Amino acid sequence: MTGNKAVAYKEAGKVEVIDIDYPTFELKDGPGVNPANVGRPVNHGVILKTVATNICGSDQHMVRGRTTAPPNLVLGHEITGEVVEVGRDVEFIKVGDLCSVPFNIACGRCRNCKERKTGICLNVNPDRPGSAYGYVDMGGWVGGQANYVLVPYADWNLLKFPDKDRAMEKILDLAMLSDIFPTGFHGAVSAGVGVGSTVYVAGAGPVGLAAATSAHLLGAAVVIVGDMNEGRLAQARSFGCETVDLSKGDPKDQIEQILGVPEVDCGVDAVGFEAKGHGHDAKEAPATVLNSLMELTAAGGALGIPGLYVTGDPGGIDEAAKKGALSLSLGTGWAKSLSFTTGQCPVMKYNRQLMMAILNDRVSIAKNVNAKAIPLEEAPKGYAEFDAGAATKYVLNPNGYLS
Ligand SMILES: NC(=O)c1ccc[n+]([C@@H]2O[C@H](COP(=O)([O-])OP(=O)(O)OC[C@H]3O[C@@H](n4cnc5c(N)ncnc54)[C@H](O)[C@@H]3O)[C@@H](O)[C@H]2O)c1
Ligand SMILES: [Zn+2]
Ligand SMILES: [Zn+2]
Repeated sequence: MTGNKAVAYKEAGKVEVIDIDYPTFELKDGPGVNPANVGRPVNHGVILKTVATNICGSDQHMVRGRTTAPPNLVLGHEITGEVVEVGRDVEFIKVGDLCSVPFNIACGRCRNCKERKTGICLNVNPDRPGSAYGYVDMGGWVGGQANYVLVPYADWNLLKFPDKDRAMEKILDLAMLSDIFPTGFHGAVSAGVGVGSTVYVAGAGPVGLAAATSAHLLGAAVVIVGDMNEGRLAQARSFGCETVDLSKGDPKDQIEQILGVPEVDCGVDAVGFEAKGHGHDAKEAPATVLNSLMELTAAGGALGIPGLYVTGDPGGIDEAAKKGALSLSLGTGWAKSLSFTTGQCPVMKYNRQLMMAILNDRVSIAKNVNAKAIPLEEAPKGYAEFDAGAATKYVLNPNGYLS
């Protein structure tokens, strides 16, 4: 029987490479699997041999112990792979196809899927709308930081690369299609970025850098990225962004120095609920980014909010934060008629177009986020370095495809 190694969450601050079962066309019981999903037949699925599987800031929320993820949950929702087995009901995807997997698991049959809202599919997670591989409260679909992974509703979910050889030449770029590139793009689109826009992106992690890259692709005049991590700000400058250093204080004055006015047309939150306050040695302050974006974004503008917010956070700074309730200055946003877009990025809405931009040399997403392949065995080190703030997007290479 084929072995299957995988990265599992063990306890706060710890991941480990463990042995798990090779997937079958049925969702079996295991850590984090919703009881109502146990035994679910997946004849519409395929088994992928993983080509690339990235570590994400969303994984870090779990690994930092900031969610209710159970021990031994297999991680990994950013998956690119080659099909090695197809289920009985798969019609169009074939063995040998090289594909990107949207991190959202979607059925393609429900009302939301029909409206392209694949981040809130109604049929894949018995707990609530929306699902993903390897994630707490997402139904229990086994994560893809492994040699092999099961992908349900394969004809619907998978994006097949048109030419395998050509795809392998750009595989690190294409590996960003499973999440952060579409997510950053969605952040920029939902913030209203277009030709000539001025944009502030809070957060210079991979999602923020992907949002900044997307803003350029959409024609923004000026893209300003804010963080308190100098290495990550340097990464943003490396592809033409302006930057503001939030350890020096509020972004408003620094933005005024850049633009001549203390406001931008479009605001993107690429940070989420573990946001730190502004200024020297500031502590965690979960509403900081949302409040500062409301202040900074011009009246009538929009906020794209890919940064993740939770309904339960065992490490929250106070009782309210532990339930996901934040001190928002909503009056500011209301007075300025700002609009907000939150939630999982509906990856399928953007991934094909962004694939074409990559394959035709319109964008260098892997370079902009500093993507780096590492062996699966080095996942614990990758997680630790990423958590320490490395300006690197770590891509696990479980089967040696990424030489
Ligand atoms: N909506 C989605 O579909 C989706 C998809 C992927 C990731 N996410 C979320 O996007 C967020 C970013 O992901 P990532 O992988 O880039 O994570 P990351 O943790 O690597 O990056 C977050 C960055 O924000 C910085 N930061 C902290 N406080 C800040 C502040 N007040 N202002 C500006 N920057 C601040 C940190 O220093 C860090 O560099 C996470 O919350 C992640 O869960 C959402
Ligand atoms: Zn992700
Ligand atoms: Zn659906």
